[in-house]
Amino acid sequence: MTACRPLARYCSSVWRALPLGLASLLLAGCAPWSQGNPANTRPSLEFDARHYELRQIEVNGQTLAVRAYENIVYVARPADARYERMNLYVPEAYFKGGSVGGFTARTAPIFLPNEVGGYMPAEPARLGGRQGPGEPPGAPPPGAPMAGPGAPPPGMERPNTLAVALSQGFVVAAPGARGRTQAQGKAPAAIVDLKAAVRYLRYNDERMPGDAERIISNGTSAGGALSALLGASGNSVDYQPWLDELGAAPGRDDVFAVSAYCPITNLEHADSAYEWLFAGLNDYQKIEISMLDYKVQRKPVAGTLTPEQIRLSRELKAAFPAYLNSLQLRGPEGQVLSLDSQGQGAFRQYLSSLLVASAQQALDQGQKLSGMSWLTLRDGRVVDLNLEGYLAYAGRMKTPPAFDALDLGSGENQLFGNARVDQQHFTDFGMAHNTSPGATRADPQQVALMNPMHYIGRAGVRTSAHWRIRQGTKDRDTSLAVPVILASALRQQGASVDLALPWDRPHSGDYDLDQLFAWARQISLSR
Ligand code: DHB
Repeated sequence: MTACRPLARYCSSVWRALPLGLASLLLAGCAPWSQGNPANTRPSLEFDARHYELRQIEVNGQTLAVRAYENIVYVARPADARYERMNLYVPEAYFKGGSVGGFTARTAPIFLPNEVGGYMPAEPARLGGRQGPGEPPGAPPPGAPMAGPGAPPPGMERPNTLAVALSQGFVVAAPGARGRTQAQGKAPAAIVDLKAAVRYLRYNDERMPGDAERIISNGTSAGGALSALLGASGNSVDYQPWLDELGAAPGRDDVFAVSAYCPITNLEHADSAYEWLFAGLNDYQKIEISMLDYKVQRKPVAGTLTPEQIRLSRELKAAFPAYLNSLQLRGPEGQVLSLDSQGQGAFRQYLSSLLVASAQQALDQGQKLSGMSWLTLRDGRVVDLNLEGYLAYAGRMKTPPAFDALDLGSGENQLFGNARVDQQHFTDFGMAHNTSPGATRADPQQVALMNPMHYIGRAGVRTSAHWRIRQGTKDRDTSLAVPVILASALRQQGASVDLALPWDRPHSGDYDLDQLFAWARQISLSR
């Protein structure tokens, strides 16, 4: 890595002057980024431990020495080397026979955070900030919130998850992935990239510290969805043609565990799941995202559903019980999680009980819940929650259909485009109610490749055994039914699932690093 620096810096300084097409061509050939490969050769799939930069990082007042191996291109024939690369960070102690947090070079779990937001292209997370020679022209300056709906609001940038992971002895492998704004970044590109990164780690397990049988994936929102999909679809042959095209390492791509914050997933059913909860709430507050002086602007825009939208909402809500019942889910106590045709029943009660448990935890931690008239408190216990009251408090954010927009205007419509068509519908409902002239529908197989629900328990697939799923009670980006369905389906297949709906948390992730890494540690040690 050190030998590559001058060229990397050169790439960086000329970057902004180049047209995008030429820039990506140059990038693909900018082989020195990939681990000391001589220029004009294909990226090697063999990890070379000799080329790194030694860094000292500060975590909680402690200094930790870390070897940084940055910009490793993880496939032999990258479609876009700006994104198909990863940053690898290893505690220096692991090269000297030492241990960190009770782990050694052989036993350290590998923390795999993706930075995907809004299904946009994502560069690999970087220790100490987001940047690198591969910044596209016009990218926000380092430290600015990332583009897309996944961007944290200004002033709420995430803590450095990577540094905390390293301080607790995890090896960190942070992959980038292509995204929906690129012609070759449509579904399933991002998941194919993450799988290729996992294969690279396993292929090189003997050459690098960390245990590739203990990979723990992490992501938020669209990144949480990809994290869940990675965990659900391990080794599925469905992705093989794309992996072959990229020259991904041979081998397995299942991962040990999944952390998923507010996964925007199960997109085929997310519209009806949204209306199952929010139908009847006609006022909404959307977030409009724009760019001004390279800064992401997030503006709340209030509105009221039109009569036509209210009709769509009712229709979508009515479709949800049949879908939910088809899954034949059971709750943690074995109760059948069904719904009647009105959308009432055990599944709704289970969701309410999770909200009550969350409120109780908040109360136990000293939060004041007294102003919330839809909660019934008695002797320090939360004894009841009126779901309608809670929903009015949380508020609707999206208009129906929340994901498969009838005018093809959503990010998800763009995710399911292809090399020729930028945006497509991906549900029968969206297609049937389409308002965009000439609109087409994505191949259902392309859509299924993005949905973990299709892979859980499927023959020939290895689904992760350990899951941690979080979605805040103030998160309206998708229905709370989505993570609850995912968790229930996983439990039914024997996975151990830690599901919680943190109280009053909006759409966000990585806000509870102590608990996240305590969980990651505990599952890694219980072999
Ligand atoms: C994200 C948020 C959304 O509301 C959505 O529809 C897709 C992705 C995100 O934050 O990644």
